[in-house]
Amino acid sequence: MGASQSYDLANANSVEYNRDSVIHEEVKPVEKRTHKQPEKTVVKQSNSCPAKPVSKYKTGNNPWDWTPTLTDENSLNGTSQVKFENTTEVNEVKVTESEVTEVKVTGKDSNSEVVIAEVSAQTVENAMSDSDVIEEVVCEEGELEDGMMKEVALGEGKVLLVKEDGDIHAMGAQCTHYGAPLIKGAYCKGRVRCPWHGACFDVKTGDIEDYPGLDSVHKFDVSVADGKVKVKANKSALKTFRRQRSMCKAKGDNSDSVLIIGGGPASVVCAETLRQEGFTGKVTIATKEEHLPYDRIKLSKAMDIKPAAIALRGEDFYRNADIDILTQKEAEAVDTENKSVKFKDGSTQTYGSLVLATGGSPRVLPIPGIDLENVRMLRTPSDANFIAEKAVGKNVVIIGSSFIGMEVAASLVKVASSVTVVVRGCVPFENVLGQKIGSFLLKMHEDHGVKFFLERGIKEFSGPDGHVTEAVLSDDTRLPADLCILGVGVVPATDFLKSSGLTMNRGFLPVNKFMETSQPNVYAAGDIVEFPLFTEGDKSVNVQHWQMAHAHGRTAALSIVGKKTEIASVPYFWTVMYGKSIRYTGYGVGYDDVIVHWDEEAMKCVAFYTRGEDVVAVASLNSDPLVSQAAEGMAKGLKISKSEIQDKTDTWVERLCKL
Ligand SMILES: Cc1cc2nc3c(=O)[nH]c(=O)nc-3n(C[C@H](O)[C@H](O)[C@H](O)COP(=O)(O)OP(=O)(O)OC[C@H]3O[C@@H](n4cnc5c(N)ncnc54)[C@H](O)[C@@H]3O)c2cc1C
Ligand code: FES
Repeated sequence: MGASQSYDLANANSVEYNRDSVIHEEVKPVEKRTHKQPEKTVVKQSNSCPAKPVSKYKTGNNPWDWTPTLTDENSLNGTSQVKFENTTEVNEVKVTESEVTEVKVTGKDSNSEVVIAEVSAQTVENAMSDSDVIEEVVCEEGELEDGMMKEVALGEGKVLLVKEDGDIHAMGAQCTHYGAPLIKGAYCKGRVRCPWHGACFDVKTGDIEDYPGLDSVHKFDVSVADGKVKVKANKSALKTFRRQRSMCKAKGDNSDSVLIIGGGPASVVCAETLRQEGFTGKVTIATKEEHLPYDRIKLSKAMDIKPAAIALRGEDFYRNADIDILTQKEAEAVDTENKSVKFKDGSTQTYGSLVLATGGSPRVLPIPGIDLENVRMLRTPSDANFIAEKAVGKNVVIIGSSFIGMEVAASLVKVASSVTVVVRGCVPFENVLGQKIGSFLLKMHEDHGVKFFLERGIKEFSGPDGHVTEAVLSDDTRLPADLCILGVGVVPATDFLKSSGLTMNRGFLPVNKFMETSQPNVYAAGDIVEFPLFTEGDKSVNVQHWQMAHAHGRTAALSIVGKKTEIASVPYFWTVMYGKSIRYTGYGVGYDDVIVHWDEEAMKCVAFYTRGEDVVAVASLNSDPLVSQAAEGMAKGLKISKSEIQDKTDTWVERLCKL
């Protein structure tokens, strides 16, 4: 039986299915063609050389994510000199066609001419303006040692330099997720991992390799002369730290289709990856929600936030990428024999490939009074906004000390008359973080005015006229309550799959390392799956983390386009309360000991969760980038032993740097 590690892991006693799980995925770099070509290729073309017809459609997107730099000021219509970075693979590049929306770039590969990339007109236009380019000396070569990162100023922006194997690489300095400074992250050969939530960026390409976040960072030109390091960058790239990878569009002559059910991160990353990897068939996301996919994790941290403010992508993005988003479109049944999905509105849609990513539904306790008004769960923006509004000046009771429940307590205590949390265990988070950290967090909440009823459960909600006024606990304590929030875990939203013929396990969908389910052409991703976790010897587990859902979505897309890549991402999550972030990586389910290093004065803490001699998970407070270093170590197979972290927290970091 699989195990589950849930962000919403509530009181362990009340949520049996959520006892353990953790996940990871590694995205392998796109395979590159190798030709004996010069390091950089500058191609000239002129109006007198008419565009040749494209004889073979190679990929439709830009597999190397070139940053084009136009080196003269001619128009896009065929007379420009174009310099592309990283074009070691081609003999020649030419702009052969320019339209409002895209530019095709062709190259000679052996004897046949192929389309090797489509670059957005905007990208080329940006590149065209000489005034938008800045080139400056940023440091002395001697200031950088191999394996070292250095942040330098360039114009109005910042650039991260990384020296690796004697080469200096320059990339965007901020994480594309929430903007963390990457210089404070973990560098380990080939990539930099963000200090805050673990996103990874390839130092050579700037591509995002692990999540959260959707975009890559920019990559800049570096040259070294007379011991001085010069970086050349597009000024707009320095300001907009996110770089969207280029994507292809649908083509009318491709009748293939991918239907994605669910509007969470797994779905969005899957759809984007399909387009990034050159899938030109139809891509549809069907979600039962009324909003475009949004940053769900904000709902417990900023409860009055509006969905438009947290949309993962705007409407234009989906339109430009030819990704159809169908909102308020709830799947009711899946027919894997006839490759079709039936929706609640009576419509049916067929698919070439199906991706299931319907996430979780809050667990509902079968107790009296559960249907009373103002007894709520939290999963959507309307839940969050309702709770934020109703809590003002009222008595709020939260059942369960899940991460979501405790984040909600921290959010509401400023505005509510009282916030009381009912906890099954001795301290909040006991099951996931252990007693010591749980006690610390209990005190932190108490210091802010949250009250706790420990080692108790909920028996019923009661109140006249259909409104809740009291929460009755298992020991018959009666708490005044105007608003009750249930945070007792989630169940996989897979009821609609019961007659689909798909193999299921306690409601979860088991998948292999490529996110393939038991039925051909059907993939699953995100909170609903049990998948083989490489750090756990490929044990099948469920990991309900924002980051992991992204990784699953990408893996499913790569499988669909025939670039099968094993999921190899290390589970990573975080929680924020009263401005303090706790970060966690690994798969700690079933840990048998916790070694905690505590510096109370500095409010710093690192906890190692062990099974036998092995450290299987690491959590920290105010100790960045230790958790990201641990995640990177786990990703690269570094073993941390219990004995080595008894006295010191970071003896293994030196080994990580040598990997
Ligand atoms: C309030 C809150 C805070 C969180 N905070 C964190 C955090 O800080 N860190 C962290 O790592 N994780 C956090 N999580 C967990 C994280 O949000 C999930 O792990 C992640 O969203 C899972 O992504 P997913 O794509 O699998 O599914 P989801 O994001 O759950 O999306 C699934 C989508 O499918 C839709 N859907 C369901 N059934 C159907 C159907 N039949 N037809 C069509 N559409 C359907 C749903 O409405 C939903 O839009 C939090 C979760 C919540 C609720
Ligand atoms: S800010 Fe970098 S992963 Fe979130």
